[in-house]
Amino acid sequence: MSREYRYQQLETWLLEGIAGQRWGVGERLPSVRDMCLEQQLSKATVLHAYQRLEARGLVEARPKSGYFVLPSIASRAAPLIDTSAVVAPSPVTVSDVVMDIMSRGAAFDILSGLQNERLPAHKNTESRYLEANNAGITALNRSIGRALRSQTGSAHQYYDEPAGDSELREQLAQRYRRYGCERSAEDYCITAGCQQSLFLALMASCQRGDIVAVESPGFYGVLQLLEQLGLQVVEIPSSSVAGLDADALESALQQWNIRACVVTPAYATPTGANLPLATRKKLLVLAEQYDLALIEDDIYGELGFLGRPDPLKAEDKSGRVILCSSFSKSLSRDLRIGWIDAGRWHHQVKRLKLVTLLASSRFVQQGLASFLKDGGYDTYLRRQREQLRQQRDQLVEFLDKHWLADVRFSVPEGGVAMWLQLSEEVDTLSAYGVALSKGVVITPGSLFSSTDNYRNCLRLSFLHPLTTTRKDALKTLMGVISH
Ligand SMILES: Cc1ncc(COP(=O)(O)O)c(C=O)c1O
Repeated sequence: MSREYRYQQLETWLLEGIAGQRWGVGERLPSVRDMCLEQQLSKATVLHAYQRLEARGLVEARPKSGYFVLPSIASRAAPLIDTSAVVAPSPVTVSDVVMDIMSRGAAFDILSGLQNERLPAHKNTESRYLEANNAGITALNRSIGRALRSQTGSAHQYYDEPAGDSELREQLAQRYRRYGCERSAEDYCITAGCQQSLFLALMASCQRGDIVAVESPGFYGVLQLLEQLGLQVVEIPSSSVAGLDADALESALQQWNIRACVVTPAYATPTGANLPLATRKKLLVLAEQYDLALIEDDIYGELGFLGRPDPLKAEDKSGRVILCSSFSKSLSRDLRIGWIDAGRWHHQVKRLKLVTLLASSRFVQQGLASFLKDGGYDTYLRRQREQLRQQRDQLVEFLDKHWLADVRFSVPEGGVAMWLQLSEEVDTLSAYGVALSKGVVITPGSLFSSTDNYRNCLRLSFLHPLTTTRKDALKTLMGVISH
């Protein structure tokens, strides 16, 4: 592992302090002199850390006065969504563009993942770039391989139990206990990914025609589920800074009989928002008051650059939070392993899992359980978070330098994607086909809503390294959009 320099340690400590509001907006950081004395560091080291924070837009240096905390970069750069308009509930229709993006393997890329995959290893700049980070995946593969090899006799002729492998559930329970969820292995059910967990959550808590509140803009996968299950949607405005607007949700709850609310408290896609504590508390209160199922999508929870926010589930006193997640974002999309802690809907969910999937692969779960137990997952996550943070910074720097002048974008402190708002006349859905003809796959803003909103928006991901090919693709995209 690469060594962390003292200025980096100081920078991280300061970042945590700013995020935790030890120094609020407009307040002065300790003077360079005090910091040198307090932390036993040289002036050059302290200055280096302060200047890096300045370069990130988190603090500003005022001559002869010191360094002052600025409003978070997210709040200055992020597109703010108009919170006034909550439209009446309606059925959902999702564009076929989602299917097109998925079939090109480009859900979180501007290049077709399938193309890249087919390149021979020596020509694949991606795999060369990522080699250092692949050690964790090699360890995971070994762990799964060992589990497969240790299968004896006729084990392969039996289905796994409906709730999933007990050791994996135990590992999940132990992990969530670290984040305040006092749950046991029996409370979890293994699924085929977070999308299936969300599906089971909606199936168990709602009936055809019910109204479900979602973030807007919000994950298109949820909109697809609502469409498929014949549920109506009411879209609650969500900004990159403050996340879901709990006051708007309250006003919607007063007007309509809403059964469930799907929310991604940690680093939601596409906004990248991390819900403030006050909003989290209010959501739990509203859920109680209006008898709501609160479906928590925790898929990005482990990818916080400044730490792991506690899930809503940690404060769930009455079993109405349904926690859904998977290893897809934090480890591998290809595992197709997720989980659900459905609280009061646990038994229905277990039955529905049996009906829709029968069982999950036992050796994959066993391999994963060992990987978690041996600490392989934690080691991998540490590297992955750092890699993602660097990739986010590369993308921010690129957009600042090269992108069209009137763009606004979020700078999330976790997850894998940022949200871009372009000038009003741009229509990213119309640009999809033109960009595609030039080899660039975009994720248009309108996919994140069932209204006509966000046509001038775009989700960009920093999941992949910003290689020269990707920089060129972004420049091509700029050309398409500015015409
Ligand atoms: C917010 C969110 N939830 C759920 C999913 C689906 O995850 P999985 O691959 O585990 O089914 C995704 C995938 O993009 C996502 O972004």
